[in-house]
Amino acid sequence: MKGRTSFDKILILDFGSQYTQLIARRIRECQIYSEIHPYHMGIEAIRSFAPCGIILSGGPASVYEKDAPHSDPAIFKLGIPVLGICYGMQLMGHLLGGEVVRARKREYGKVTLVLTRKSPLFKGLGGKGKTLSVWMSHGDLVRALPSGFCATASSENTPFTAVENRRAKIYGLQFHPEVVHTPEGLSILKNFLFEICGCHHLWTMRSFLDQTIDDVRKKVGSGKVICGLSGGVDSTVVAVLLHRAIGRRLRCIFVNNGLLRKDEAAQVVNLFRRHFRIPLTYVDAEARFLKALRRVVDPEKKRKRIGKEFISIFEKEARKIGGVQYLAQGTLYPDVIESVSFKGPSATIKSHHNVGGLPERMKLKLVEPLRELFKDEVRKLGRVLGVPEVLVKRQPFPGPGLAIRVIGDITRERLEVLRKADGIVLEEMRKAHWEDRVWQSFAVLLPVKTVGVMGDERSYENVIALRVVESLDGMTADWVRLPESVLGAISNRIINEVKGVNRVVYDISSKPPSTIEWE
Ligand code: XMP
Repeated sequence: MKGRTSFDKILILDFGSQYTQLIARRIRECQIYSEIHPYHMGIEAIRSFAPCGIILSGGPASVYEKDAPHSDPAIFKLGIPVLGICYGMQLMGHLLGGEVVRARKREYGKVTLVLTRKSPLFKGLGGKGKTLSVWMSHGDLVRALPSGFCATASSENTPFTAVENRRAKIYGLQFHPEVVHTPEGLSILKNFLFEICGCHHLWTMRSFLDQTIDDVRKKVGSGKVICGLSGGVDSTVVAVLLHRAIGRRLRCIFVNNGLLRKDEAAQVVNLFRRHFRIPLTYVDAEARFLKALRRVVDPEKKRKRIGKEFISIFEKEARKIGGVQYLAQGTLYPDVIESVSFKGPSATIKSHHNVGGLPERMKLKLVEPLRELFKDEVRKLGRVLGVPEVLVKRQPFPGPGLAIRVIGDITRERLEVLRKADGIVLEEMRKAHWEDRVWQSFAVLLPVKTVGVMGDERSYENVIALRVVESLDGMTADWVRLPESVLGAISNRIINEVKGVNRVVYDISSKPPSTIEWE
């Protein structure tokens, strides 16, 4: 978002901390727009981004190490307020002529600091002598301050826990205000934004929407865009937004690959044609996908075959439409951070969302209107665009669909068994008000048969595994301690109602080391 003026912006320079994304999230929670860029962003690029303030993130390096990441010291002369956090503060001390040394003791965890001087950063948090609980994680510290700086807080092991040069508008914190373990952290960040940087043009989903519609119109001109729908939140929001921006020059394609959840295809078609009145090309490709997946057991091969079918269907549909130059994709900010970030823990976020190979092969340019948003922000945007609540709150569903949840051979019959069991899982989760409280809840069909008794007869049937996890971003996850009554209801109904299943097991593994999907 270069040179935009409708809302204020904060620039976060990333030195590789695992908390960098969290800083961006916190700033956005204050309704101020923030972007993460690598620590070596050039001065001209910073000027043209025109931030109201710059935050230097933490990071795992030591400033005096060979090859330690350094920003251009000219950032301190731009007249833009700067806040250095942890490594960011140490770098500031180092570049401005102070002294940074290895601490006698590595500090990790909760620490109590004492405010030693009045500071705009601590406005509203109490005067001199007040104590605050903060979260520290550092091995180095600033031993001597650069000239013009003074300490505003100290702790037992760290005399310079918070420092400032108020005239130069430069501030430093040795602790992490962005983590929840620093209870007053958000107030401290708010003080930086509103007291020090003077931010006042708030970032709202409405302002984001207006700006994005404008951008899309400028970018696409009179061109045509195709958008593949999956039935999930991201692609739906992209399609509705683009339809608002360019109307009929958007062509939505929905491929029913036969790997969808119960009733999903009908729901997507209804939503677009009846609710939104957005034209939709519906492609019934069930037979074709099943043929391509016949006797494929290896999960990677399944994914590849599915991707290949998607590509050829899209190519064919795009040829029919003619003159398509753009492909819309629901890329989100965590995927973007991965590509712009300094290589550190914050860069490990990965995504396997999009159908790879499509844009290059079809020589299409990408339109990615959500690339600056986090998942929960996409949900907010969906609400502003009038996307129904059931869809906005929908759990993530993998692109390759049920194919990676039918372990082993995929046949129409096995898909149907899984689809029925999965439908019961969702229904029962909804009934018990658990559906929205978890990241995902679904059934997996295993390639084993076990013995059971049904009535007086011995049965030899399939096993369904139930997977219910909580997670913030899908990168790590824990299994949910569902009440016995919900587990019992799901198991009873599946065994009674789904022909071909005589056993249900509950997956109690966390990610890592297990993944969410079984594949
Ligand atoms: P794993 O199984 O890697 O999954 O722990 C993490 C999250 O990603 C989803 N997932 C996918 N989503 N296309 C997608 O759009 C895919 O190929 C895919 N594979 C996994 C999974 O459902 C979970 O939320």
